[in-house]
Amino acid sequence: MAKILVLNGPNLNLLGDREPDYYGHTTLEEINQLLSKIAKDAGHALTHYQSNAEHELVEQVQKAMREHVDFIIINPAAFTHTSIALRDALSATSIPFIEVHLSNIFAREPERRHSLLADLAVGIVAGFGGASYLLALEALVRHLKSRAG
Ligand code: DQA
Repeated sequence: MAKILVLNGPNLNLLGDREPDYYGHTTLEEINQLLSKIAKDAGHALTHYQSNAEHELVEQVQKAMREHVDFIIINPAAFTHTSIALRDALSATSIPFIEVHLSNIFAREPERRHSLLADLAVGIVAGFGGASYLLALEALVRHLKSRAG
C-alpha cells in the first residue's frame, strides 16, 4: 500500500464554475471522490489538500515527508509558473511526484508555457480536463506496480 497525496493550488477550489472552456464543469470535490475510490480499489491510501496560499502548499509537502508519503500528484495551478519555493520543497523532500494540469499549458499564453517544477517530476499529464487527474493516478498505480514487481 502506498500513501498518495493529491495537492491542488490556487483557484482550483473554484473548479466547476471557473472558466469551463479551459477547466470543464467537474468540481474538485467530484475529482477527489473519484481519485479516492480508484486509489482505494487499487489498495492505496489517498489524501487530498487544496490551498490558495503558497506557504501552505510548501508546509504540506514538508508534512508529507514527515509522514512518509510515497508519492504526490500535484496541480500547482498558477504556482507552476512562479513558485521557486514549491520547487525547492519538492526538491528538498525528494518525494516523487506527477504534475497535473487540466488545460494544456503548452498551448496557452506564453507565461503559462513554462513550469518551474516539470523537470523534477516523474511525469506530467496536461490537457484532459478533470480526466488529467485520473490518468495521472492510473499512471501512478502502474508505476507503483512496476516498482514493486
Ligand atoms: C492550471 C494551468 C495554470 O496555468 C493555471 O494558473 C491554473 C490551472 C491547469 O490545471 O490547467 O490555475 O494548472
